[in-house]
Amino acid sequence: EWWEEEKSKNTPEAAAVLEAAETLRTSDIPVGFPTETVYGLGADATRSGSVQGIYKAKQRPSDNPLIVHVDSIEMVNRLLNPNGGSPTTKIPAIYEPLISRFWPGALTILLPNPKGSLLAKEVTANLPTFGVRMPSSAFARLLIHVTDRPLAAPSANASTKPSPTTAEHVYHDLQNGGPCGVGVESTVVDGLTNPPAVLRPGGIGIEEIRTCPGWENVQVGYNDSALQGKEAPRSPGMKYRHYSPKARVVLFEAGSDLASVADRVKKDLIGGGGSSNGNANGFSGRKIGIVRTKTWPIALSLSDAETKQTTQASNDGDTLSIHQISVPLGDSSTTVYDVHLGASAESIARGLFATLRSLDAENVDAIYIEGIRDDEGDLAAAVMNRLRKAAEVFVVV
Ligand code: TXA
Ligand code: MG
Repeated sequence: EWWEEEKSKNTPEAAAVLEAAETLRTSDIPVGFPTETVYGLGADATRSGSVQGIYKAKQRPSDNPLIVHVDSIEMVNRLLNPNGGSPTTKIPAIYEPLISRFWPGALTILLPNPKGSLLAKEVTANLPTFGVRMPSSAFARLLIHVTDRPLAAPSANASTKPSPTTAEHVYHDLQNGGPCGVGVESTVVDGLTNPPAVLRPGGIGIEEIRTCPGWENVQVGYNDSALQGKEAPRSPGMKYRHYSPKARVVLFEAGSDLASVADRVKKDLIGGGGSSNGNANGFSGRKIGIVRTKTWPIALSLSDAETKQTTQASNDGDTLSIHQISVPLGDSSTTVYDVHLGASAESIARGLFATLRSLDAENVDAIYIEGIRDDEGDLAAAVMNRLRKAAEVFVVV
């Protein structure tokens, strides 16, 4: 009813939604839109031309399937029963407890793609299944409703870049709203196998999923040590380098000894070992980012000299702030961009991608990150999964 009223008043917002819906239905130009997890780059999932537009815009490999976004269970049922269905194909019972608990929300389920599927073949990248989710973002559901089509939508970043959590990020990556509440993508689960599996950790934690009937034995179907690359990942997207800023990312696992961390950073900056690129100094410039979570002190207390805070950039509506600090190290001074993401997995997830992007915008040479334990459930595993994919160097000290 709210939408009907908005439409009849012909507000600029209503006009924008109608224009976006029309573009989705009729053109092959993808449309960026916010969801509660990250921004999506949407296409009409039923038209090949439209879906190809996504792969083109993102430079995405064609073997990486897309998530289909729906506004209702009826829309899912239509996808399962393209010819009206007799007998009717139902959503497999194993998903019932997950759907009633987590939809609408940050959970993507895999369903069998039926014969004569309404979905463009590019959506599924030739897999026998399709991934689908109902976003909790009211705006996203409205757009799907008005378009009256399921929308295929990957995160609206360029392939390999950190996922966008503000409209500016989308514009920056693809040249053509507010921050996202969750900040990491949806959890992808596969209930079509026995035991069921989490294929991508995300907004809904594995511990929460495990409390649902039929999901007590849910397996971890993704591989964080994918760098060793033995098993073929079941979720094709997980094999690609991802979420990576331009800077070298050095990730310290939770519990790393603080003195050793500071030592490693100093060595990179002053030279004399530790640098992997053969330069005497690890980096040509002298700008680094330090991203703290639970325990690291400000700028790692890299210097006894007074640290001076010169600027404070605030990240678009969020509480995230970056402190620029000048630290005398060796024979010159180093600019340290110090970010504290907070101590909870929720705040870390919300700020993570935006921080990597902000530090990239400052052209830092390296980013040192304090990891968190990934067995604390909820978002912690999702955060560490993203960080391990972004990192070039892992350090456990
Ligand atoms: O939160 C999200 O899920 C965001 C927002 C926009 O909804 N979307 C998103 O889409 O992250 P994308 O395309 O960046 O990631 C989709 C992931 C990939 O890892 C892909 O391989 C996996 O889901 N996926 C999609 N369909 C699949 C299928 N049929 N079988 C296995 N994995 C699938
Ligand atoms: Mg993505």
